[in-house]
Amino acid sequence: MPRRPPTWLPLLAIFTFWASLATALSGQEPLKGPAETPGYKAGEGISVTCLNRNIETGEHITDASGQLQYIPFPTCNETGRPLELSFGVEKDMNCTIDFISDPFFHLLEFYIHNDAPLTCRVPSKPLPPSPSADYKVSDETTQEGALGSQSTLYTPLVISLAGTLQLSHLHVGNSLNLLVHAAPKSVEAGRIDAASAYSVAPHERNVRVSIGDPLTLSFSVRWYPSTVLPPGWTGYGGHVYKSTFLYCLLSAGASAAICVAYFRGVELPRRLRRYARDKVPGGRFGGYGLPIANGNGNGNGSTGLGGYGFGGGGYGYGVGKKD
Ligand SMILES: *[C@@H]1O[C@H](CO)[C@@H](O)[C@H](O)[C@H]1NC(C)=O
Ligand SMILES: *[C@@H]1O[C@H](CO)[C@@H](O)[C@H](O)[C@H]1NC(C)=O
Repeated sequence: MPRRPPTWLPLLAIFTFWASLATALSGQEPLKGPAETPGYKAGEGISVTCLNRNIETGEHITDASGQLQYIPFPTCNETGRPLELSFGVEKDMNCTIDFISDPFFHLLEFYIHNDAPLTCRVPSKPLPPSPSADYKVSDETTQEGALGSQSTLYTPLVISLAGTLQLSHLHVGNSLNLLVHAAPKSVEAGRIDAASAYSVAPHERNVRVSIGDPLTLSFSVRWYPSTVLPPGWTGYGGHVYKSTFLYCLLSAGASAAICVAYFRGVELPRRLRRYARDKVPGGRFGGYGLPIANGNGNGNGSTGLGGYGFGGGGYGYGVGKKD
C-alpha cells in the first residue's frame, strides 16, 4: 500500500508562518515618537519630494506658516508615480517626464542656468504613517535652518542638472548618478545620512527639449553603507598593464638567468665529467665536449694524459688517438 504524505503538513506550515507573521507585524504596531521610528528595511520605497518654486523668479514657495513647500517629483511614465528610491537597492532606472509644461520648462531653465537648484529631499527614516497631531507638533519642533523651515526628518537631495541653454530649447544632461549614504549599521540601521545626484558627461549625454517634449532622466543609483566613499581610482588600466608586463618580463629574464647559471655552473660540468668517465674505454666520441677541450685534446692528446680535460673532450680524444 503506497504511503501518501499527510496533506495537513503543508497547511500546518503555512498556518504557522502566518501566525508568526501576524505576531511580528502586530509587534510593530505600537507607534513610538518620530525620533525613535525604526529605520528603512532593505528595498523599502522612499519618495522624493522637491521644493516648489515660483516659475517667474525661481524663488521657493512657502506655505501660510512660512514653511518651504515640497511637492512630489514629477510623475515618471515608467512607474506612473513620482520618482522613488528603494533602500539599499542599486539599479539603473529611467524616469520619463511625459510632457514638459511651460512652467516646468522655465524651471528647467533656472536649474540649468544655476539660478536655482533642483532641491529635493527624502525622509531620512520612514515617516510616521499618518500626520497625526503629535507628529505635526514634533515636526515643527524639529525645524531648523536659516528660515527655520527645514525639517530634521529629511535629508536633502540636490539634483545638479547640467546642460546648455538655447533661445528656443534646452540641452539637458539627462544621464545622472544618484548617490545615497546610509548611516553605518553600528550607528543606526536604515537611516539615510546624505544623498546627491548630478549629470554625468553632459556634453555627450544630453537631450534636446522644448516645451511639450518628453524628458527621460536616466538615474544610476548607488548606495554606500557609511558616509565614507570607497576609494575608486586604480589608474586607467594602462599603467597596471604595463607594469604587469614589465614584471613578467623581468621574472622571465631572472628565471632564464638562473637556469643558464645552473646549467653552466653545475649541470654541464657534471655531465661532462660523466661523459668523460663513460667514454674512457671507447674514447672515440670524446670529441663531443667543449671545443676548447677539443683543442686541448688535439694539442696534447699524444701525451695521453687526461689532465687537461676540463671536459671529456680532451681526455677522450687523447685516449682515442692512442688506440
Ligand atoms: C533607459 O532608457 C534608455 C533609452 O532612453 C534605454 O537605453 C535604457 O535601457 C533604459 N534603462 C532602463 C533601466 O530601463
Ligand atoms: C507615457 O505613457 C502614456 C500612457 O501610458 C503614453 O501614452 C505615452 O506615450 C508615454 N510617453 C512616453 C514619452 O513614453
